[in-house]
Amino acid sequence: MTRVVICGALGRMGTTIAGLLQDAEGLEFVGGVDIKGGELFGKPVVPAGEIDAFLERIQPDVMVDFTIAAAAVGNIRAGARHGVALVIGTTGFSGEQMQEINGYIEGAVPAVISSNYSVGMNIFWKLVREAAQRLADYDIEVIEAHHRYKKDAPSGTARTILGIIEDEVGPREKLYGREGMTERTNEIGVHVVRGGDIVGDHTVLFAANNETIELSHRAYDRAVFAHGVVRAARYITGKAPGIYSMDDVLSL
Ligand SMILES: NC(=O)c1ccc[n+]([C@@H]2O[C@H](COP(=O)([O-])OP(=O)(O)OC[C@H]3O[C@@H](n4cnc5c(N)ncnc54)[C@H](O)[C@@H]3O)[C@@H](O)[C@H]2O)c1
Repeated sequence: MTRVVICGALGRMGTTIAGLLQDAEGLEFVGGVDIKGGELFGKPVVPAGEIDAFLERIQPDVMVDFTIAAAAVGNIRAGARHGVALVIGTTGFSGEQMQEINGYIEGAVPAVISSNYSVGMNIFWKLVREAAQRLADYDIEVIEAHHRYKKDAPSGTARTILGIIEDEVGPREKLYGREGMTERTNEIGVHVVRGGDIVGDHTVLFAANNETIELSHRAYDRAVFAHGVVRAARYITGKAPGIYSMDDVLSL
């Protein structure tokens, strides 16, 4: 049995993942970490300050992190120190935070890092790459929408999309919303919507005179991310130290 601990266990994603782990063959949810602690599916959830002692006691194989960037850096450091394989879903890391995370992981533990664990989004990224390769001279805009409680903007997924587009069309200015007198040049417009319980919508618009192409992905339930997390947890157990992507997990 692969023993799985979840950081952010009491959050939206944490509870969804723990729920799915109840029926996941070969994986066992053995406990969690969250700000205040508590209980989930009969397993202990300890307060964040106790993570080291908890990992020492529980000896998990995999630690999943869906918290917030500032917290995840410390959790990852703790997981790596205890030799636990990692599945990291938290988004919103700065460049410095990513560097710090890489430093904890490299040579120490295997880790899957992805801004989006849904299978569909990982295919969507391929479609965006293909389109961007061929449509570099079109005007490009990225639009994303999420629920009212999402903390980081634009979403980690949108940031991944922007990285893919720029891989193909070269670096461009990103313009986050427009107001007043604006004249379009070569920028990529980025537009963020927050409201209600939207799970996660992403659209990439390629526009030229007389035609547009819109690629859209909509997640209707957090289960799509949680299913990917379960696959990643199975994949990462026993791998060599280093950073892996969902491309590796899904053999894309
Ligand atoms: N990669 C993906 O596929 C994917 C999908 C959905 C959400 N996310 C990201 O996952 C993260 C969590 O999203 P959510 O909607 O579940 O948020 P949420 O606010 O519902 O849950 C986050 C949880 O983390 C807890 N937390 C905060 N600091 C902590 C700490 N130091 N130690 C342990 N727990 C701590 C909070 O108390 C909360 O329960 C966000 O960064 C979000 O963007 C990623």
